[in-house]
Amino acid sequence: MVEEDMIILGIETSCDETAAALVTDDKRILSNIVSSQFQEHKPFGGVVPEIAARAHLIHIEFIIQRALQEANLSLDQIDGVAATGGPGLIGGVIVGVMIGKGLAMAKNIPFIPINHLEAHALTARLTGDVPFPYLLLLVSGGHCQFLIVEDVGVYTYLGGTLDDAIGECLDKTARLLGYPYPGGPTIEKLALTGNPEAFALPHPLKGQNGCSFSFSGLKTAARKIILENEASSPSFQADFCASLQKTIGEILVDRCHHAVTMALEKKPDIVNLVLAGGVAANQYFRKRLENCSQERGLTLITPPVSLCTDNGAMIAWAGVEHLNHRLVGSLTFAPRPRWPLENLKSEIGEKS
Ligand code: KG4
Ligand code: ZN
Repeated sequence: MVEEDMIILGIETSCDETAAALVTDDKRILSNIVSSQFQEHKPFGGVVPEIAARAHLIHIEFIIQRALQEANLSLDQIDGVAATGGPGLIGGVIVGVMIGKGLAMAKNIPFIPINHLEAHALTARLTGDVPFPYLLLLVSGGHCQFLIVEDVGVYTYLGGTLDDAIGECLDKTARLLGYPYPGGPTIEKLALTGNPEAFALPHPLKGQNGCSFSFSGLKTAARKIILENEASSPSFQADFCASLQKTIGEILVDRCHHAVTMALEKKPDIVNLVLAGGVAANQYFRKRLENCSQERGLTLITPPVSLCTDNGAMIAWAGVEHLNHRLVGSLTFAPRPRWPLENLKSEIGEKS
């Protein structure tokens, strides 16, 4: 360990993963511990907020201790604590924020509340050398939006979903097929052996101006097909998942072309499209968007799969970026169930 490195502890508790990580300002991930609550939520077929909050409370101290152990560090060697401050399931966010504040207070180091979406947006800069500005497609369980990432804390919203997110559509559809949360990875796996032309599904908003999305109609159409077929048949499941994945891929490509045009009008110097969030773990979507980026002269950048789904390293890294920009929160920060990315810089406040 080089003495002068800045080391940040990142804490993530906004959904169903209890996670903690230690990351340096020179982009080294010293530890990254993620504990999934998969078993706790399995009987209910989705994430139950109250169960999630209790599970975070039970596991968080142990997870932070493990992160420190794996990095061979003590709390005295940490230079700041970053914790997800929202958006997310509020019970879990409160757990992470309170323990983060407690540790920061006890060690007299900065507490940095992090917007979870911003952490997804900045992860590509932890794993690669991605300069500002870039176009971002953020696709997760609760979010689906295009943004221009202009700088740390400075985001321009271009368009997003009018109803459901892709992750939600995949999770609900997998549930109808009898699979637990998270459904995205299951659908990707089932689709591998299926015929993508087997079922025709709608492409909401395809060809329309702007880069909004709508997935509720697709979700309903998927449900109808499942109810009309032998849903437990392996060949049905493979064909259906391949068709659904292909349809979503086509929607993404169509919307992406519009978003690239909009982004380049505003910022002609953009050369990268970053794909981030849990759904970005999907190899099929990556491939489709890679082709689309190439056609438009942009380079697609995707963080490694383990850093696409929720983790503490992305929170710690966002903490590093904030400290580098002298953007620090205060111990009076209140956890937020909703927290849009616009106006982030003025909300967090800049240190003089
Ligand atoms: O970013 P994330 O871990 O949590 C949120 O902030 O929402 O994203 C979780 C979402 C879930 O909807 C999950 O089904 C989806 O990401 N997901 C995937 C894959 N891995 C996770 N969707 C498609 N393909 C995958 N391989
Ligand atoms: Zn997330």
